[in-house]
Amino acid sequence: MDINEILAQVDAEIRDIGTREGLEEFRVKYLGRKGIVAQLTGSIPTLPVEERGRFGQQVNALKNKLSCLIREKEKSLADSGTKAASGEEDLGMPGIAQELGHLHPVTQIITRICDIFMRMGFAVVEGPEIENEYNNFTGLNIPLEHPSRDVFDTFYLKGGEKLLLRSHTSPVQIRVMQKQKPPLAVVVPGRVYRPDAVDASHSFMFHQIEGFLVDKGIRFSDLKGILEAFARAVFGEEIKMRFRPHFFPFTEPSAEVDISCIICKGKGCSVCGRKGWLEILGSGMIHPNVFKHVGIDPEVYTGFAFGMGVERIAMLKYGINDIRLFFENDLRFLKQF
Ligand code: DAH
Repeated sequence: MDINEILAQVDAEIRDIGTREGLEEFRVKYLGRKGIVAQLTGSIPTLPVEERGRFGQQVNALKNKLSCLIREKEKSLADSGTKAASGEEDLGMPGIAQELGHLHPVTQIITRICDIFMRMGFAVVEGPEIENEYNNFTGLNIPLEHPSRDVFDTFYLKGGEKLLLRSHTSPVQIRVMQKQKPPLAVVVPGRVYRPDAVDASHSFMFHQIEGFLVDKGIRFSDLKGILEAFARAVFGEEIKMRFRPHFFPFTEPSAEVDISCIICKGKGCSVCGRKGWLEILGSGMIHPNVFKHVGIDPEVYTGFAFGMGVERIAMLKYGINDIRLFFENDLRFLKQF
């Protein structure tokens, strides 16, 4: 066995090793009790005396080199990870579970409410969040001096065209009625914007659902029936409703709608301010001027409209006391829905 040949061969041999087992085999082959180094050492006494010293040094050098190579290889196998070191992937190892997300509670409520109205024959229509002044105010019979037109109550956009971020979803009434003629039954979910200071019950952006129905012979009692069916579906069969006279420029007569307090069932508590009632939406019979603006004859057609705040409904339904929770993206809150 030529020791120089062995020295040359170990480099190539160890380079091809890719597993711990392979490396162990290599170690046993060379450094094991009956390995090549042991054999070489054992052959020393058979050599002529004058060669023994030099040969012994070469065997030592080989031994040192092998130790070095093995140590280096061990390190590189460890570095390339346990998988590579063991030479096989562990298919039984549990994977990294992908966390499944879900719809935002506001989206869930919107879907739920739209579903309720769709089952009663309403179509769902959306409109743009950037709206013109006509659709947001004028078409809806909101006079020029109305406080909601003030820059403190509406976000106006720069530019000549009098564009704004819609302050309610009612302008979609105008958009739909300009294009389509009755009979119409439509609900409109979407974002609205108002320059309000943010607190537990105000946000500069929130969601509304507008609804309206237009046909021949539509009466206030139809509005009551539809809204009662809606409130029962959302808050439960035992819920009570009341209509309070109110004023909106785009409806006449107008009413605010309350439900019996879902916490105290009408007895009076801190949530309802001891009134026993919670306001949930605004409504009324569509004003003749609105019909005139969109070219529908108010002598032939009548209709009702209503508008509700989605976050408010969600807060009442789930007992949430701060609107900011919907927009802070805190998963500890969102995961509860
Ligand atoms: N647009 C009103 C608001 O943002 C809500 C509303 C009230 C809508 C009465 C209606 C309605 O359609 O009839 O406060």
